[in-house]
Amino acid sequence: MANIKKIAVFTSGGDSPGMNAAIRSVVRTCAYLKIDCIGIYRGYEGMIEGDFKPMNARSVNNIINKGGTILKSARCAEFRTKEGREKAYRQLRAEGIDAFVVIGGDGSFTGAMIFNKEFNFPVMGIPGTIDNDIFGTTFTLGFDTALNTVVEAIDKIRDTASSHNRLFFVEVMGRDVGHLALNAGVGAGAEEILIPEENLGRERLLESLKRSKLSGKSSSIVIVAEGDKTGKNIFELKDYVEENFPDYDVRVSVLGHMQRGGSPSCYDRVLASRMGVRAVEALLEGKSTMMVGTIANELILTPIEKAIKGHTKIDKELIRVSDIMTV
Ligand code: F6P
Repeated sequence: MANIKKIAVFTSGGDSPGMNAAIRSVVRTCAYLKIDCIGIYRGYEGMIEGDFKPMNARSVNNIINKGGTILKSARCAEFRTKEGREKAYRQLRAEGIDAFVVIGGDGSFTGAMIFNKEFNFPVMGIPGTIDNDIFGTTFTLGFDTALNTVVEAIDKIRDTASSHNRLFFVEVMGRDVGHLALNAGVGAGAEEILIPEENLGRERLLESLKRSKLSGKSSSIVIVAEGDKTGKNIFELKDYVEENFPDYDVRVSVLGHMQRGGSPSCYDRVLASRMGVRAVEALLEGKSTMMVGTIANELILTPIEKAIKGHTKIDKELIRVSDIMTV
C-alpha cells in the first residue's frame, strides 16, 4: 500500500459528458476510504495557480446528471514548459497533495506522464473525451452521450431533409478520428459516412449518391467527421456535389459544440462511477502513471504512455454494415 493521504482530482482539455460523474466518484471513494480530496479548478492552469478546493462527499451532491464539469476545464500552454510544471509541483506540495487523478484526453495524459517522470509524482488517468480516441479503452467518458446527441440531431435533420427532398451534409466532431461519425452514421441511417481513416474520394461519393437517387431515394444524409479529407472542408464538398450532381438541393449542417454538452447517458454515468473508484483504489495500491479503461466491460489499467502512443482502430464491421444498409 502506498502512503497516500490526500488525492487531487481535476478535469482537463475538451470537456465531455460524464466528467462530473467521474469527479463525484473520485471524491466519494476518497471519503469512503477516509482520504482527503482536493478539487483543482481549470485543469493544469489551476494547478499552477493553486486554485484548489477541499471536497467532501457532500461537495458533489446533484452533479451525476450534469453535463460539463463543475471543476471547469482548460488547455494549458504553461504546463508544457518545465517552469510551469515546477510551479505546479510546488503548489501540490504546499497543499500536501500526494497524488492526482486527471480526467481528460491524450494531451492531458501527456502532461501527467511528463510530470510523473520529472517529480516521481503518482498520477492516474480517466479517459474523458467524446472522440473515443484513446487506446486502452473501448469507451471514453462522453462518447455514448455524444452519440445519442448526434443521432437525435440527425433524426431532426432527416425530417426537414425528407420534406424538401434535400441532401444534407452533417459535420460531426472528431478532428483526428471517425468513431463518432461512423457509429452515429449507422445509428442514424446515413447514406454515406466520411471519416479520416477511410478516404472514399469525391468521385466515389458522387457515384454513390447517384446510385442512391436512382434506387428511389429522394433525400439523403451524409455524415462528415471534422477531420475527414475527402474535400477541403464540408462546404467545398457541398459545392462539388451541387456542381456535379444538380438533381439535389444540398444543405450543410455543422453540429459543433452542442455535441459536447448535455446530461450524460446512463452508460456514461455508470462507467464514470466505476472508473473513479478504480482510479483511487489503484493509487492506494501503489500504482501510478496508468489509465483506467474498459475492455469487454472489465476495468483494466493501461500504462499512460501506451494509451497516448497507441492508436484506436475504426470498426471495419460497422463500415460493412453501413454499406449493406444503404443498398
Ligand atoms: O474534445 C475533442 C474535440 O471535441 C474534437 O473533436 C474537436 O475538434 C475539438 O474538441 C474542439 O475543441 P475546442 O473546444 O477547443 O474548439
